[in-house]
Amino acid sequence: MSGAYPLAPAVLRHGLVDHPLLTLSALAEAADELPAEHVERRIADAVNGGEFAMDAAAGTPIADTIRAIGTSGNWVMLRFVQQLPRYRALLHALMAEIEGVTGAKTGPWRTLKAFVFISAPGTLTPFHFDAEYNILFQIAGDKDFATYPPEPPFLPFDRREAHHRDGDNMLPWHPEYQALATVHPLMPGDALYVPHAAPHWVRAGSRPSVSLSLTWQSDWSLATGEALAVNPLLRAVGLGLSRPPVWPRRPALQALAGRAARRVGLL
Ligand SMILES: [Fe+2]
Repeated sequence: MSGAYPLAPAVLRHGLVDHPLLTLSALAEAADELPAEHVERRIADAVNGGEFAMDAAAGTPIADTIRAIGTSGNWVMLRFVQQLPRYRALLHALMAEIEGVTGAKTGPWRTLKAFVFISAPGTLTPFHFDAEYNILFQIAGDKDFATYPPEPPFLPFDRREAHHRDGDNMLPWHPEYQALATVHPLMPGDALYVPHAAPHWVRAGSRPSVSLSLTWQSDWSLATGEALAVNPLLRAVGLGLSRPPVWPRRPALQALAGRAARRVGLL
């Protein structure tokens, strides 16, 4: 992690495979406790370049879908599990183990958010990016996690700017990208550090998969997000960035403009 952070992916090992909060039945209980809008059930057969179809599955309790994930043909995402105190304690303990590395490079961690992905065999998470640092802990089943550098053509600058205004993080796909991926095969006990904004797609293997995704921000990533959000406006007056800032370069002026624009309602 210390050799890679923050710009390169890194495969790590972890000891969470038998953690009592990450069994299917513990996750089914967590799904019942989370606000309904933070539990998403989707159809598992997405393709790169496409979206995930939501599955209302009227009448089927989400806990039943999770317990039957091997045969339900679904993909369930629990969003913001840090809301539940027992999960928050686990996540803070994980951050405490890595903050010697992250703190030395990018300062204190900010806005910790965590997700659990419970996937039917073969689920594809289509090509997209996330404007956050991420460690994905593989708990059950296997996954191929494909990463790309956070730069054009994989991550077009205009898509990156737009994301900080509209929240859309899906990316255009071209078949030639398949061969250009760095594919990290993950087994239970493996984890992958995914750099900020690195585009990726993920495919679950032949068994039901459970993954925990721990994400955080830094002052650099928050400032970069503000700068990118306002960049189209700044470009119109000749002050925009012509390329996204690469850590450790900090877009101080543009970030300041971004915060000001948000305050007065321009963003
Ligand atoms: Fe992602």
